[in-house]
Amino acid sequence: MYWRARLLESEAHPLPPPYPGLLPIIGHTHLLLGDTSKLWLTVKKISDYSMQHDGVIYLKLGFDIYYIISDPEDALVAANTCINKHFLYSFAKFWLGEGLITGSGDHWHRHRQTLKSYFSLPIINGYIEVFNSQSKILLSSLEHSTGKGNFYSTQYAKTYSLGSSYSTAFGKTANHEKTFRQYMKATDEMLSLVLKRFQKFWLHGDYIYTLLGYKKQESELVKFNDGITDEIIETKSSFSNESNSKLTHVPYQPLIHLILERHTKNAFTDKEITEELHTAIVAAYETIAISLQTILVMIGSFPKVQERMYEEIIQVLGTDRDVVKEDLRQLIYTEAVIKESIRVVTSVPVIARSVDKDVKLKNYTMRAGSQCVIVLHGLHRHSSWGPDADQFKPERWLDPATLPAYVATDATFSFGKRSCLGKTYAMTSLKIAVAHIVRKFIITADYNKVQYQLEPTLKSVSGHDISLERRNLN
Ligand code: HEM
Repeated sequence: MYWRARLLESEAHPLPPPYPGLLPIIGHTHLLLGDTSKLWLTVKKISDYSMQHDGVIYLKLGFDIYYIISDPEDALVAANTCINKHFLYSFAKFWLGEGLITGSGDHWHRHRQTLKSYFSLPIINGYIEVFNSQSKILLSSLEHSTGKGNFYSTQYAKTYSLGSSYSTAFGKTANHEKTFRQYMKATDEMLSLVLKRFQKFWLHGDYIYTLLGYKKQESELVKFNDGITDEIIETKSSFSNESNSKLTHVPYQPLIHLILERHTKNAFTDKEITEELHTAIVAAYETIAISLQTILVMIGSFPKVQERMYEEIIQVLGTDRDVVKEDLRQLIYTEAVIKESIRVVTSVPVIARSVDKDVKLKNYTMRAGSQCVIVLHGLHRHSSWGPDADQFKPERWLDPATLPAYVATDATFSFGKRSCLGKTYAMTSLKIAVAHIVRKFIITADYNKVQYQLEPTLKSVSGHDISLERRNLN
């Protein structure tokens, strides 16, 4: 109520143009009803409208004003000034608590300062062997679908991404395969609970949510995964560094080891350690799976791109050895294809923040007590990318002079103070998985046929998106 009162008071700040369809009392809420495929089509239209109106418009959802920002300069100001997340993120707090994605204020700042060094290149290099071994597991599963026409690649991509993030977070665990499967099942169930609550406005309040038994389900699932994590923490408390990687000669330091080291200096409570481990795993899980699937679809849709990538991979890696640190720098075209795929299909297309104080943009001042949505999807279509912003052109990444100069236009991993901590991790993991796949298979796909839904990451609607043929490796 306090904020709403403030909103009325701040009429001194004129609003930007509204999105069409504003109705009395309910505002634009009626536009967001329907399934998540429809929601995605609506969000794309809202993004286009924002771009046609100098990059800032507003929506009114109930009593709340939402600024929709697709201008890069304003987006960077908003990202750096509006640090606290929108209330929808709080639906994941039963599980991720005050971990980096859901946390706010001083707690978030302190954790970010400590954790950011754990996502640096030297640490990620220690994970190269994990990404290689998970890629080989992925190749064996993909064999089952080879030569059998189109199939849905997402499940394979998910097993790869969770297998990798579980291993880089926890290291080798007792009964690794069984524990991983149990953790994956509970994680999937928790993600679908968060999504259900996010989508259905009548579940936003605690009363109906609890009445329908979802609170109980939450507690059971979280107890289960916390139990797995506590057990792992207990066995690792007196850890010795896991052996240096044989392949890369870099120390392999799972996140749990890095945090426990700090823990001895009393930086985190036990609960905070568990929350940050779950956060790191889930942050990597969905985004890497979605991105991997997108990259395979794009490569499969552009055979000339695929052949150029294949030639580069064979030239750098040869026909059968694993990827090592030195290779990563040389896979230049492969990196361009990855960056372009995740630019064209942005896995996290929107981020939402609370506007806690008046925030001055170029032409407007966002009112304290409102919300803002930064449209990363729109930033990837900004005119500074050139007239071909909508098209898939990996070569644009090969010449830095052709890329937009402004930092907030390359938005896949967000930007500003709360940008993604896992960018280097994600690019390394994706490069290794894609190199293994392209070396072994010819992919066929048609990106025009893939439909998407906003959940709140951008997921493909279940369907038969790619087909594979084994390459003749002579
Ligand atoms: C292609 C893969 C990935 C994409 C597209 C991606 C994208 C993003 C985006 C857009 C945000 C900002 C979210 C927001 O402000 O609401 C974010 C935050 C974050 N990401 Fe990623 N991410 C990826 C992979 C990863 C990985 C692999 C990790 C960890 C291993 C990770 C860890 C995080 C964390 C901890 C945050 C929260 C940062 C903060 O608020 O301080 N991400 N990511």
